[in-house]
Amino acid sequence: MSIIIRKMDLSDIPFVYQEELKIFGKSLGEKTLYNEIIYNELSRYFIALVDDKRVGYIGSWMTVPNAEILNLFVTESHRGKGIGTRLIQAVIDRCEAEDIRDLTLEVRPSNTFAVELYEKLGFERAAVRKRYYADGEDALLMVKRLGGAT
Ligand SMILES: CC(C)(COP(=O)(O)OP(=O)(O)OC[C@H]1O[C@@H](n2cnc3c(N)ncnc32)[C@H](O)[C@@H]1OP(=O)(O)O)[C@@H](O)C(=O)NCCC(=O)NCCS
Repeated sequence: MSIIIRKMDLSDIPFVYQEELKIFGKSLGEKTLYNEIIYNELSRYFIALVDDKRVGYIGSWMTVPNAEILNLFVTESHRGKGIGTRLIQAVIDRCEAEDIRDLTLEVRPSNTFAVELYEKLGFERAAVRKRYYADGEDALLMVKRLGGAT
C-alpha cells in the first residue's frame, strides 16, 4: 500500500464535501473550501491518496504563533493504517518549516481513537472548552509545542 500526501486542490472539493457530510453530518461547505484553497494565504490543506484513490484530508491554518488543525478525516475502510498519522505529520512538517511555536486542535473527549492518536504524536491536553460542540459536548483543547520562534 503506497500512501501519498499532497496539497489539496480544487478537484478534491467534492470528495471532501461528501465525506465530511457522511462522517460528521456537516461540512465546511464547497464554497468555504474553495475560498480556503484559492484566497486564504494561511490555509494548508492536504489530501491522502492510496493507490491514486482519495482516502483522507486535513485542514490547517498557519496562524502565528499558534497554528491550528481545523479538520481531519480518513475514510472508514482505510482507518487504522497510519494514514491519519501521515496527514498530521504533513501539517507538523509545514509548521516546522514555517517556524511555528504551537500547533493546537480541538477534539471531542469521546473520540478516543483521535485523542490517543494526538497524544502519541506529542499533543498534550491543555484545556477543556465547555459545551463547545452544537450537541453540548465539551471540547478538549490539545497543544503540541514545536519550539519555533514566530
Ligand atoms: C481520527 C482518524 C483521522 C485517525 O485516522 P487513522 O488513519 O485511522 O489514524 P492512524 O491509523 O494513523 O492511527 C489510528 C490509531 O487508532 C488505532 N485504531 C485501531 N483500529 C482503528 C479503527 N478501526 N479506526 C481508527 N483507528 C483505529 C490504530 O491502531 C492507531 O493506533 P496505532 O498507531 O497505535 O496502531 C480517523 O479515525 C477518522 O477519520 N475518524 C473520524 C473523523 C474524526 O474523528 N476526525 C478527527 C476529528 S478531531
